[in-house]
Amino acid sequence: MEKFVINGGKPLTGEVTISGAKNAAVALVAATILCDEPCVLENVPEISDITICMKILQAMGADIQLVNKNVVKFDTRGIKNPHVPYEMARSMRASSYFLGTLLGRFHDAYVAMPGGCDLGDRPIDQHLKAFRSLGAMDELKNGEVHCYADQLIGSQIYFDFNTVGGTINAILASVKAKGRTIIENAAKEPHIVDLANFLNSMGADIRGAGTDVIKIKGVDYLKGITYPIIPDQIEAGTYMVAAAATKGDVLVKNVIPKHLESITAKLRKIGVTVEENDESVRVSVDGALTKTSIKTMPHPGFPTDMQPQFSTLLTLAEGTSIVTDDIFDNRFRYVAELRRMGADISVDGKVAVIEGVGKLNGAPVVATDLRAGAAMVIAGLAAEGTTEVSDIQYIERGYECIEKKLQMLGADIKRVTVTEVGSVQMSG
Ligand code: EPZ
Repeated sequence: MEKFVINGGKPLTGEVTISGAKNAAVALVAATILCDEPCVLENVPEISDITICMKILQAMGADIQLVNKNVVKFDTRGIKNPHVPYEMARSMRASSYFLGTLLGRFHDAYVAMPGGCDLGDRPIDQHLKAFRSLGAMDELKNGEVHCYADQLIGSQIYFDFNTVGGTINAILASVKAKGRTIIENAAKEPHIVDLANFLNSMGADIRGAGTDVIKIKGVDYLKGITYPIIPDQIEAGTYMVAAAATKGDVLVKNVIPKHLESITAKLRKIGVTVEENDESVRVSVDGALTKTSIKTMPHPGFPTDMQPQFSTLLTLAEGTSIVTDDIFDNRFRYVAELRRMGADISVDGKVAVIEGVGKLNGAPVVATDLRAGAAMVIAGLAAEGTTEVSDIQYIERGYECIEKKLQMLGADIKRVTVTEVGSVQMSG
């Protein structure tokens, strides 16, 4: 097992470059199954969720070549059997995208019920509703979802509520269906626009991505292309918050400022200075931070994936802040860990009340999921004393080289391998 050991209290200063967006990359890697020729993805983040997606494709018969650690060539023509290996599929939420992409290509798909961060119940009823609208049927056997259709016919898909995964799967399943599909009440996240742009570059006909109505005309053939994945808005937001929490001065490079608008607005509201440039933002703090209220919303609202990180920052802001996150059943499991560091937070269902405290104190804590793990790192960077963050495998799912990027910003953070109780080996 590995953990991060952080000696906090040092302002982060300097420059950090943001990697490709995890939640775009998992969709685009799955979408390569629909491509009739080899294709290349650039700006691929080197994170474990992507490693698993590529291992799934290889296990199914795809040929994958690393041009370098962030440029990957995919040739999925060798895939003949639409069956995703069970144990790989159950380890993450994004494996649900293999249902849409395999159904779209083979009219048949076997994928284990997806796993992923434990944020409460995460059903896929809306995904299945989309597939059924296109004429597919489905059954659950031995923990695997089997979706199948004689043919897929374009139709109207109306989502009961915003679902990122459901919208992505509806696009994947309909891009080669016969006729026109209209997706109503579609999610509008940047990664959905990136998927549409990727598929359109291959010859798909998808209009309206980024709005709540997406219109798709089925096509028969998708040609090979080279495509750069958009920068990760959540990784960028995480470093922006880390800069603020340590009262530092950081230039966050390789970003699309438009994707960060809700995060930037909230940082400015509590007294953080954010300067926007074409492809970077500069974050600095020169004074006390003040309270605010946050309600997470689908894009372009404040993203739920930034809630743990921002709540951690608010533990250091003067006054009482209120954070409401009702996108998921329970995204406050990290609060108990923050309390070990002196945070004053009470949680009632989907609402957290945060009383600002003057400082946090280092302590041994665990990452309860991906973004909670990032929040623990931010807390450790801001705290006085030493913080040990265990279960960092969660963090590795979505943050490329996080300790190296933080070390470049002056953080005292080390990756430590815990071989057995009491003995550690320093590394990284
Ligand atoms: C995606 O999850 C992201 N994951 C999540 O990021 C992100 O938090 C979420 O979108 C919201 O932005 C990936 O992209 C791999 P949803 P997803 O479908 O698709 C419920 C991270 O930290 N729902 O928009 O699962 C669902 O349970 C991760 O990077 C249904 O009830 O999110 C949730 O409560 C965490 N039935 C809500 O809707 C369905 O069929 C929103 O889910 C689908 C979803």
